[in-house]
Amino acid sequence: MQVTVEIWRYDPVTEESHFDSFVREADPTERVLDVMLAIKDEDDGSVAFRKSCAHGVCGSDAMEINGLNRLACQVLIQDLETDLIRIRPLRGMKVLRDLIVDMDPFFEGLKQVQPYFIPAEEAPATEYRQSIDERAAFDDTTKCIMCGACTTSCPSFWSNDAYLGPAAFVKAHRFIFDSRDAGDSVRSCFRPRRLAVAPASSWSLV
Ligand code: SF4
Ligand code: FES
Repeated sequence: MQVTVEIWRYDPVTEESHFDSFVREADPTERVLDVMLAIKDEDDGSVAFRKSCAHGVCGSDAMEINGLNRLACQVLIQDLETDLIRIRPLRGMKVLRDLIVDMDPFFEGLKQVQPYFIPAEEAPATEYRQSIDERAAFDDTTKCIMCGACTTSCPSFWSNDAYLGPAAFVKAHRFIFDSRDAGDSVRSCFRPRRLAVAPASSWSLV
């Protein structure tokens, strides 16, 4: 099938932005990332975007595709149900060039929740023990690949520098619910102006 791909371009030198349009033949089962790589290889090598694993693991190719934030490597052309593909950079972030945004504020927000294991003062004499149920309590939130798609689709994040965004809450949940972690009190009360993380007992995933 023939698709028209409109890609947001931004030149940091001139600070000029516009959409460039590319018409390509694409198999419906190809991914948006495949088409973008073909454009870069064959039409315009200056188109700039991030990608690494190409398999939904690294989180580097989050971008707005036809109005929704998604990973370009995880969206098939046929999923879009249209032959017009419009690609923009993630919103609420400074655009560095074309589809590449400055992710520093996103990662700074994640750091605020101390997204790492905080051991108890006295470590167990042998290994940390955890039941299957205790491990299951935070299984969902171990799957975050820190792509930023959720946070940068949130209007509160766009307009409020103090709001850390949903990915930070996901990271906080991952450790607050870990029965081995002793950082609950730290994460529950630090920096109340920037983030009020409720005690683990009041959290639930829906
Ligand atoms: S929780 Fe947010 S940052 Fe993490 S993988 Fe999902 S969309 Fe990406
Ligand atoms: S390129 Fe790694 S998640 Fe898409």
